[in-house]
Amino acid sequence: MERFIIPHDHEITKDDRRNLNGHGSVILWFTGLPSSGKSTLANEVEKKLIAGGTKTYILDGDNVRMGLCKDLGFSEQDRAENIRRIGEVSKLFVQAGVVVLSAFVSPYRRDRDAVRALVENGEFIEVFVDAPLEVCEQRDVKGLYKKAREGVIKGFTGIDDPYEAPLNPEITIKTAETSLEDGANLLVAYLRERNVIGG
Ligand code: ADX
Repeated sequence: MERFIIPHDHEITKDDRRNLNGHGSVILWFTGLPSSGKSTLANEVEKKLIAGGTKTYILDGDNVRMGLCKDLGFSEQDRAENIRRIGEVSKLFVQAGVVVLSAFVSPYRRDRDAVRALVENGEFIEVFVDAPLEVCEQRDVKGLYKKAREGVIKGFTGIDDPYEAPLNPEITIKTAETSLEDGANLLVAYLRERNVIGG
């Protein structure tokens, strides 16, 4: 397909938006097994950021799969497309000057690295939400591990589909050993150290 797309150079830049907001903008990318605590942690971090005057937005698996990605399933290819779209949306949030918290299983390293490559150095912060499979299965927040064990769900991450743990995540939070409060504080402190937020 021949395409004639010429991007328009808008006058207001990412830095203008950041200056207006009074803070930086990055992607906090939460990856981990189902029920590892990604959404819970993202939610807690978001509350702290909002309380401190930071503009945020959460993108998360179940919500995005109701709309933007409702045509996608869980094959390797569909997961890649899911993460690609979310990566592009996350990049738009960074350009809008917002701290975006993206919580997706995102089981393939290649797909996560592709999102990292979309944005500038330091703008993609990979948060490995690390909990042993036994713990996640025990939590089974949505009852899906049980269904996967029964064979009702096929290709469930951690049971009969792979999860590739990050090799060099910016941050690892071990949710079986760290309280929600401590985990969220670690992430907020990281953003402060990197001067994404002040204080
Ligand atoms: S991803 O692999 O493409 O990143 P995503 O984070 O969007 O997955 O969605 C994962 C959520 O979908 C899980 O939390 C779970 O509730 C649900 N789900 C349904 N089927 C599967 C499956 N086969 N593997 C993993 N999660 C599944």
